[in-house]
Amino acid sequence: MRFLLPVGLIATTLAIAPVRFDGDKVLRVKLQDEKQANIIKDLAKTSQLDFWYPDATHHVAANMTVDFQISAKESQFVESALDQNQMHYEILIHDVQEEVEKQFDVKEDNPGRHSYAKYNNWNKIVAWTEKMVHKNPKMVSRIKIGTTVEDNPLYVLKIAGKDKRRKAIFMDCGIHAREWISPAFCQWFVYQATKTYGKNKIMTKLLDRMNFYVLPVFNVDGYIWSWTQNRMWRKNRSRNQNSKCIGTDLNRNFNVSWNSFPNTNDPCQEIYRGPAPESEKETKAVSDFIRSHLKSIKAYITFHSYSQMLLFPYGYTSELPPNHKNLTQHQVLL
Ligand SMILES: *[C@@H]1O[C@H](CO)[C@@H](O)[C@H](O)[C@H]1NC(C)=O
Ligand SMILES: *[C@@H]1O[C@H](CO)[C@@H](O)[C@H](O)[C@H]1NC(C)=O
Ligand SMILES: *[C@@H]1O[C@H](CO)[C@@H](O)[C@H](O)[C@H]1NC(C)=O
Ligand SMILES: *[C@@H]1O[C@H](CO)[C@@H](O)[C@H](O)[C@H]1NC(C)=O
Ligand SMILES: [Zn+2]
Repeated sequence: MRFLLPVGLIATTLAIAPVRFDGDKVLRVKLQDEKQANIIKDLAKTSQLDFWYPDATHHVAANMTVDFQISAKESQFVESALDQNQMHYEILIHDVQEEVEKQFDVKEDNPGRHSYAKYNNWNKIVAWTEKMVHKNPKMVSRIKIGTTVEDNPLYVLKIAGKDKRRKAIFMDCGIHAREWISPAFCQWFVYQATKTYGKNKIMTKLLDRMNFYVLPVFNVDGYIWSWTQNRMWRKNRSRNQNSKCIGTDLNRNFNVSWNSFPNTNDPCQEIYRGPAPESEKETKAVSDFIRSHLKSIKAYITFHSYSQMLLFPYGYTSELPPNHKNLTQHQVLL
């Protein structure tokens, strides 16, 4: 017994305490012109502005409304800089830690029942994928498309109506770890699809015409990290050579204009694209899966937060794609 105790002690000292956000604020600034946009960009060079919208400094432009998180320590300086430049701002959140704690309130309303009204951790989501298959064996199947760096499984749920061999839409949620509403949406979508197929007109029509491949959590390692260590974690958890910064932004790691994103080659950036296209196991697994289903997969939708927008491809250019007109028409139809 005496020998067991120190082992326990080592284990507990090694466990890192979760990052806290006591007194962190989220500010919303309505930029009036180019000059104010530049002030924000300059502030981002000297202070740690964690952008919520847009998702990086270089997207900040005149006439935009920007939201960013700022630590308690730096908020005084940033707020007085905004005041000095007569920039109007609103404090959206006064204490980020308080809001974070509310989201960890995972007491179950109904023990044993999956909640669609609360956030679910990774273990609960895995149990939920099993339950979905078990309850709807004719409609839902689970495919393991790969594993993450930390050896967690990447599960895709295939949802199909009666005829299995049809066109399909691929959907991912949770590519950015901290965007918890995204995996919550994928869970809700699968639940609604199975519950309302044959009852709801639109859902029945959709599922009679196409299959869905739903990846409820893309960045599993990052998602777990956001639950246990840092609620604001975005990237994956891979180590980067020659840098103390961890992680790659998985949705900038695809082999699509990988080289042409501005400001994505610094491992310390939240939008770091990784050392090479598809360098990340997760991106590679999804790309391989799509390549092997190219005949059926006709569309890919990825769900993010935060804001209320429908973005069409492509993110690396402001040029419109050839089928832009069709896309806007179908948006109205849906
Ligand atoms: C910003 O808004 C002002 C006034 O509405 C307008 O004159 C100006 O052209 C806009 N600038 C940009 C870059 O959109
Ligand atoms: C994340 O990205 C790195 C590359 O930077 C990759 O090697 C690794 O597979 C990924 N790590 C995790 C833990 O997902
Ligand atoms: C990325 O795409 C280019 C051009 O299509 C191709 O030559 C290259 O092999 C691809 N890289 C990976 C990692 O698949
Ligand atoms: C737009 O939709 C029409 C009809 O569905 C189709 O014939 C046409 O090829 C589409 N155009 C493009 C550029 O995808
Ligand atoms: Zn995102």
